[in-house]
Amino acid sequence: MSSLTASGFAAVPSAAAPQTTSQKTFATGDKTFLLNGKSFVVKAAEIHYPRIPRQYWEHRIKMCKALGMNTICIYIFWNIHEQREGVFDFSGQNDVAEFCRLAKKNGMYVIVRPGPYVCAEWEMGGLPWWLLKKKDIRLREQDPYFMSCVDRFEKKVAEQLAPLTIQRGGPIIMVQVENEYGSYGEDKAYVSDIRDTLRKYWDTSDAKTTLFQCDWNSNFEKNGLDDLTWTMNFGTGANIDDQFRRLRELRPNAPLMCSEFWSGWFDKWGARHETRPAKDMVDGIDEMLSKGISFSLYMTHGGTSFGHWAGANSPGFAPDVTSYDYDAPINEYGAPTEKYWLLRKTLQKYADGKLPAVPGKAAGIICIPKMTLKNVAPIYMGVDSTAESRDVQTFEEMNMGYGSMIYNTELPEISEGSMLHIDGHDFVQVFVGGKYVGKIDRVKNERSLPLPATKKGNVLTLLVEGMGRINFGRAIKDFKGLVGDVTLTADVDGDELTWNLKDWRMRRIADDYQTARRAMTTPRNDVALASNTPSAIGYYKATFKLKKTGDTFLNMETWGKGQVYVNGHALGRFWSIGPQQTLYCPGCWLKKGENEIVVLDVVGPKLPVVWGQNKPELDKLQLEKSAKHNNIGDKPDLNSATPIAKGETKPGNGWQTIGFSNAATGRYVAIECPSTHDGKPVAIAELYLQSADGKRLSRDGWDVKYADSENLQGNHTGDKAFDLQESTYWQTEREAASPHLLVIDMGTEQTVKALEYLPRMEQGAPGSVKEYKVYVY
Ligand code: GLA
Repeated sequence: MSSLTASGFAAVPSAAAPQTTSQKTFATGDKTFLLNGKSFVVKAAEIHYPRIPRQYWEHRIKMCKALGMNTICIYIFWNIHEQREGVFDFSGQNDVAEFCRLAKKNGMYVIVRPGPYVCAEWEMGGLPWWLLKKKDIRLREQDPYFMSCVDRFEKKVAEQLAPLTIQRGGPIIMVQVENEYGSYGEDKAYVSDIRDTLRKYWDTSDAKTTLFQCDWNSNFEKNGLDDLTWTMNFGTGANIDDQFRRLRELRPNAPLMCSEFWSGWFDKWGARHETRPAKDMVDGIDEMLSKGISFSLYMTHGGTSFGHWAGANSPGFAPDVTSYDYDAPINEYGAPTEKYWLLRKTLQKYADGKLPAVPGKAAGIICIPKMTLKNVAPIYMGVDSTAESRDVQTFEEMNMGYGSMIYNTELPEISEGSMLHIDGHDFVQVFVGGKYVGKIDRVKNERSLPLPATKKGNVLTLLVEGMGRINFGRAIKDFKGLVGDVTLTADVDGDELTWNLKDWRMRRIADDYQTARRAMTTPRNDVALASNTPSAIGYYKATFKLKKTGDTFLNMETWGKGQVYVNGHALGRFWSIGPQQTLYCPGCWLKKGENEIVVLDVVGPKLPVVWGQNKPELDKLQLEKSAKHNNIGDKPDLNSATPIAKGETKPGNGWQTIGFSNAATGRYVAIECPSTHDGKPVAIAELYLQSADGKRLSRDGWDVKYADSENLQGNHTGDKAFDLQESTYWQTEREAASPHLLVIDMGTEQTVKALEYLPRMEQGAPGSVKEYKVYVY
């Protein structure tokens, strides 16, 4: 008979819960973990089953074993298992129980992190998009609807995995409660509810699972529950003793574990590829092991965020690339790197015997000759549903999780110089009468675009592509499509007039292979043609023959932006801006004989050609030359930086000098402006920096490194703040969110002691900076 929990729910199928006298155990003991009663150091390798083709799961597990690890650490990604509300899938690529059994077969223990939120640079941090159909939902809080969905999901996860805990003869030693909740909020009641849900479904009176919580050392006290094990997350290069200092003070007898030791880092579109030194990573692990500290290496093998599963970082909107290589010891396609060999040497020191031999490759590498994708269907052939409404609707309101939407309405008559304002997520291309006008890119914090003169009845088309939903911080409630009013403003005889555009037609284009296939095979029809998008934007198809299969890297450099499907498998997003220019195509998804490739390009290619190369290209930026300076990769992360000066300026015209209490040395000066004296967009006419002896530094060689917002209508770019013209000025856009940031690159390192600032020359100094923070780095 199955054991019943207090709630009466039979969490664990009886067949899978043999109780024998030699029952195995895992527990938190005195200053150590205890495996079957004996001291045990967890050496865990984090790898993610959806980021590895199922055919390669065992190979990657063996690679971790041969590296010297004893445990595999996994998240459970809610949104791949419950893609439609209430419909669960734990089969094939989603068969996480099989993944755990493979770990066990290879002598590895497993740590399970079933969220419900996981972060992980994964779409919405693992939460299913359909939660957002309830507009006012409170995610990761005690919202009754959210909690009931969580309960249903955790019950299903436990049905799959609770039979595999160590007490029941399986490999699972620990289960995590939520994920780094401290960077989301302070809510012990919610975290306790998640704990209780896991207990309800994982535990029986005679078999209790070790539950733990992970967080940053600066955060963990906010939500730490007394009855859970606490572990810390930190990266390569961190001061390890310092990371555990507070935990040691609070719980002197607790075992220590770094539950995410970051081996590298993730990449964002438009920013350079991230790497971290191998030596720092290996030294950190060596130090932990020499002190008996357990760890999980995040990531040991990053893999790939196939299809539309890559998330986006915040603050701001910084979508992650498809590759999740992470500069990890085992690279994206499963091969050992320099980090692997160095780490293996170190882990060998701490191994009981000789480490197993490193397995050979799971697949060979092949090249595929260049092919042209000649079979073309315009994007509107992918439309599967159309709706009309007075106001724009989001993807969620249109019942679509991922993809693009074409929005059409009619324009009023306006002479040249009108501005279109939207709140659009994420990549919006604007057409008037079917002609391309420009784009509004959320990555660059853009919200508006000047329109040409329009005639009454001209069709306005907004093609909106959604990228990954934000996976970090409060911004995870990330609706897609147009999310607010669409307005036009224009100066008519000295008055600013605003039109709120209404009466929209929306066409939904889901991002999946079925849609792409249908688009390629359906005869065109006139209704769809009315959506007014140029035909270069669309689906491209070709077939190619292979004599042998193998892993390859599809070069997408000549394409714009979109998705690739090979033999029905979604490989992921590409975007010409880089840094990723190739997509990993696993050999196990290719066939001898004929193969099919379909590309959806929402921008349109320069050349519709693809080839498979034998190496990935993960670090090639192809940024557009734009008048703006808002490339995300140039934006400094000031979250943990200390300003050199901070305060408020006086209102009114004229120069002001802001002295720093200490001289500071650096190449870049960042000026953050949270507010202005009159609430108008920030404006700075001129800036100088003074050296330690009070002299103005030369501004020759100065450049704008980054400006979050620049009003291009009047050509108010960032460089206007140091162009020696007191009448020109940097000005932010009207609707751009504060705080504003201007970063000046002085060309070389300089020592600075003060900043001189001149607001606009006009009466009342419109837009003069009120609060400020200055950073030098
Ligand atoms: C945190 C999260 C992980 C991941 C890493 C960064 O530690 O818990 O899911 O997002 O950051 O890669």
